[in-house]
Amino acid sequence: MPERADRTHGPANSYGLAGRTAVITGAASGIGAATARLLAARGANVLIGDVDPAAAGTVELIRSTGGKADWAHTDVTDESSVAALMDRALDAFGALDILVANAGIAEPKGPLHTMELRDWQRVIDINLTGVALSNKHALRHMLPAGSGAIVNVASILGSVGAANSNSYSAAKAAVANLTRSAALTYATSGIRINAVAPGYARTPLVDGLPEETRSMMESRTPLGRLADPTEIAEAIAFLASDAASFMVGSILAVDGGYTAA
Ligand code: NAI
Repeated sequence: MPERADRTHGPANSYGLAGRTAVITGAASGIGAATARLLAARGANVLIGDVDPAAAGTVELIRSTGGKADWAHTDVTDESSVAALMDRALDAFGALDILVANAGIAEPKGPLHTMELRDWQRVIDINLTGVALSNKHALRHMLPAGSGAIVNVASILGSVGAANSNSYSAAKAAVANLTRSAALTYATSGIRINAVAPGYARTPLVDGLPEETRSMMESRTPLGRLADPTEIAEAIAFLASDAASFMVGSILAVDGGYTAA
């Protein structure tokens, strides 16, 4: 087991990520892009895996501020694609210290009896199986190193129900419990696995929803507003850092009070 960082000498900087390599899935936009930028600002080398070539824009932003970043076209539902992404972290940066399994999509909302099987399977494939595959192939490299931090992105909808949310809620609840179980499996191998459970955040995933849905999201959030993606990124960066050295299997709500009610 790695020792906890010694903070008795010099200023504590347990939030810093200098020299670490982070792989982030789904960082072309939204929470993933904000997280990529924040981790890079804290000193991490960032490798993005995304199906959207707009990930190159996140890479450019990071490089323009002096950070190190790259991206690889990656579909989290395709195991060989995910495996190649994790291998590339070692080729490009020599290590894989942090995984943020963030890629996800919204579902076509509606009553369960009208659900189309192909829609269900697509959401489960990306939002659940994609997280499991990303964890699996990151662990392949973290285990021999004897260290690592994984942050999975769940949702408030994995903790509480919401009418007309089916595959999305099911997938996010499963991500939370997969996180707990995997955390227990690897706790003594030097690898911490946690999740964030964001509340509604202002991202393309939410911007695409009808205006009345977005108003409902705001009014149901005790803070009375949607999160900025950077507010979710802060919690992810914390869990990825040594500042969270005693956090294992936590599902950290970052939701403006949504699940406190
Ligand atoms: P977003 O749409 O801005 O970002 C999602 C990213 O995932 C995009 O870059 C997209 O290209 C990528 N992606 C989609 N399918 C992929 C695939 N098969 N392989 C690789 N990448 C893929 O959405 P947002 O809001 O930033 O979502 C990020 C995560 O946060 C998701 O897991 C979402 O479920 C979760 N979340 C979002 C909330 C919100 O209110 N925005 C609330 C709670 C959770």
